[in-house]
Amino acid sequence: MIALPELQQQIDQIRRDLEQRLPTLSEHDALEAFRVEFVGRKGRITGLFKLMGQLAPEARGEAGRLINEIKDYATGCFDEHDQADRAQLRQRQLSSDRIDLSLPGKHQALGCLHPMTLVQREIESIFMKMGFDVATGPEIETEYYNFEALNIPADHPARADWDTFYIGDSHLLRPHTSPVQIRVMEQTTPPVRIICPGRCYRRDTQDATHSPVFHQIELLWIEEGLSLANLKYVLEIFTQEFFGEGYEMLFSGDFFPFTEPSVQVHIKAPGAANWMEIMGAGMVDPAVLTNVGYDAEKYTGFAFGLGIERMAMLRYGIEDIRSFLANDLRFIKQFS
Ligand code: PHE
Repeated sequence: MIALPELQQQIDQIRRDLEQRLPTLSEHDALEAFRVEFVGRKGRITGLFKLMGQLAPEARGEAGRLINEIKDYATGCFDEHDQADRAQLRQRQLSSDRIDLSLPGKHQALGCLHPMTLVQREIESIFMKMGFDVATGPEIETEYYNFEALNIPADHPARADWDTFYIGDSHLLRPHTSPVQIRVMEQTTPPVRIICPGRCYRRDTQDATHSPVFHQIELLWIEEGLSLANLKYVLEIFTQEFFGEGYEMLFSGDFFPFTEPSVQVHIKAPGAANWMEIMGAGMVDPAVLTNVGYDAEKYTGFAFGLGIERMAMLRYGIEDIRSFLANDLRFIKQFS
């Protein structure tokens, strides 16, 4: 058993020790030592509470009050110095992190978009505004999607028109984006309204206008009642948006196994002497619609394929298709 005066003595001792320590508390380490010694889990004040059980029951109320008082006092001292400590630390950090605004800045090189990306995005956005979705397909294709489904049977001489890189017996690097039409139609019930941008490959010898790797955008619209007039209208809007007002347009006959009739589309700038060929197009051949399971009596539609490089060359007056892949920053930076 212990008595209240004895407890009081212990508390007074603690208070004296504590007050003696106060002047040192502005040092960070001393503050932590103080916390551990007085108010830590095994600290001296916490220890006092354990003595309560040894007091006479009627003294416990007063004892609790005294112990809590000294505890609040110690905690108050700790908190006050802790806050000051933190404020000081922050002040030190702020002054060491200070930025000298008068120093010269670091040069950040700003990237820019490749002219092909710019033109591709512009063409996409023109057709997206007209309600076409963007679809993509694989660059490594099967003969079925690249030829057969597009009404070009094996051994048909038309296959020679696409100078194709083969990979093994039945796979190839797609020489045009038309196989994407087939893939989308297989998965969709009409109406279909898509554009398919993508990379294509052909066994061409590289020169100013040919590259073994190039890009096309395919367009396909299938619905009931579409005619060549609708194709012409879509192209007129496109030409106006992409090249500007006043361009004339001309269709000349052509042949593609997957369109009937097939046309070559030419445009002429206002006041220019020459026509420029911009794309192959036509009404989708009923055989192609039948191949994907569509009712060719009910649905009609049209498609075209244009070369993105060619559009970029016309738009920016670029004369050599090889510039696009030459990776010369001086060239690329001119367009953004
Ligand atoms: N796929 C054809 C080509 O690359 C272009 C084309 C697409 C023609 C769609 C007509 C319709 O040569």
